[in-house]
Amino acid sequence: MGRVGLGLAVGCAAISCTIAGILVTKRIKNRRKWSRVVEILSEFEDGCSTSIARLRQVVDAMAVEMHAGLASDGGSKLKMLLTFVDRLPDGEEKGTYYALDLGGTNFRVLRIQLGGNRSVILKHEVERQPIPENLMMGTSEDLFDFIAMSLKHFVVKEEGSEQRPDRSRELGFTFSFPVRQVSVSSGFLIKWTKGFAIEDAVGKDVAQCLEEAMTRRGLDMRVAALVNDTVGTLALGHYHDEDTVAAVIIGTGTNACYVERTDAIIKCQGLLTNSGGMVVNMEWGNFWSSHLPRTSYDVDLDDETANHNDQGFEKMISGMYLGDITRRVLYRIAQESDIFGDAAASLSAPFVLRTPLMAAMHEDDSPDLREVSRILQENLQMPEISLKARRLVVGVIDIVTRRAARLAAAGIVGILKKIGRDGSGGIGSGKTKGKIRRSVVAIEGGLYSGYSMFREYLNEAVVEILGDEVAESVVLRVSEDGSGIGAALLAATAAHSSDR
Ligand code: GLC
Repeated sequence: MGRVGLGLAVGCAAISCTIAGILVTKRIKNRRKWSRVVEILSEFEDGCSTSIARLRQVVDAMAVEMHAGLASDGGSKLKMLLTFVDRLPDGEEKGTYYALDLGGTNFRVLRIQLGGNRSVILKHEVERQPIPENLMMGTSEDLFDFIAMSLKHFVVKEEGSEQRPDRSRELGFTFSFPVRQVSVSSGFLIKWTKGFAIEDAVGKDVAQCLEEAMTRRGLDMRVAALVNDTVGTLALGHYHDEDTVAAVIIGTGTNACYVERTDAIIKCQGLLTNSGGMVVNMEWGNFWSSHLPRTSYDVDLDDETANHNDQGFEKMISGMYLGDITRRVLYRIAQESDIFGDAAASLSAPFVLRTPLMAAMHEDDSPDLREVSRILQENLQMPEISLKARRLVVGVIDIVTRRAARLAAAGIVGILKKIGRDGSGGIGSGKTKGKIRRSVVAIEGGLYSGYSMFREYLNEAVVEILGDEVAESVVLRVSEDGSGIGAALLAATAAHSSDR
């Protein structure tokens, strides 16, 4: 071999050594990065743990806080608000009623015709529309004028030729925010939740605000019932099944209400005339307990929300927040590894990952997770990622959703415990002559009705906590449009009792 040949051979050997060296270093680096990813993921998973022991602690804490909230105003983070609903619809209601449902991403107007004699709801028309984002931050006059206008259009469209401008109509108004009620048809807004921030409305009587806006718009309508969405859902649930004792919403926000004995509502005895029961709006979105599995991602999310330090339970469970918790974990992984390529920027913006997209990725059952890849590329402008990385995304979603669903399940069992329907054998344990009484819980909201993994995790956890025998007596029933229809039913019930 000549000098040139020898030089070349040595050169080539050196190059291949360098390449091999680079590859080995890269592999080691990749392995290190992957092990960092695994570390982040398992730390997150541990932080989200909802072992059965922990869920039982949450159940007990919920029941204890319910007692405290009923004993005095400010006695608990659970407001346990009186609704003045002491009669639930019984099927006797008759006539045509309207309902207006304002509370989350959408707002709905409805008209229902009731035939009496527990007949079915004869006719029920709904119109939905998104709430323009600028109205969620503007003035109360703008918001209520917009609602009144939409309602007026709907009335004109529905009544057509039967329309009688002189006729006064009864309205059920579902207003899904914390309201201190003074009667079944009026109440004052305590604070906003779910991203609404119309400062001048806080402290105002919201039924009056709406009635004034309707008058300004030339619509003759009276608010006969002002209700929370949970209360509407309970009313419709009870209309269909008298064993319905509680209602839960798991949508943009989360909350629950239930029927409480009036003698257990210690804080407002002077206001309670009926000796039976009354529906209490728990505002459980604000529930807090040191037993809740909270991670650094929850803390960061809370720090960046307008209602910082508020609605802690809601921020771990509801649709407004689950997507963003997931995004935060993925963002951290993107910053500390390259498994998502250069996707860190795509994941940096708060709330880009919406919960419905998260649900769609979770439910992708294609072998190569095609849908996950498509959603990330089309909606988050992320580059195409490997199958391993897509699996990781689904893994994070699963942890977030499972925790949320299981905590909601613990909340439900907490209510059953408080009213003696959890089979634990205390006073009013729900056992009649050895048999456990049937209890129905109506559940409304997209997370439960439209996200099957969430629903399965929740149902499974209720059985796990209660045990098979007691769980058999508990029915979790999906409700649809109950928040609105129920408000119309309550308007009818209120109108019916004032006729008597
Ligand atoms: C928020 C509201 C509450 C409502 C719930 C579900 O938590 O404060 O009133 O019921 O969202 O919409």
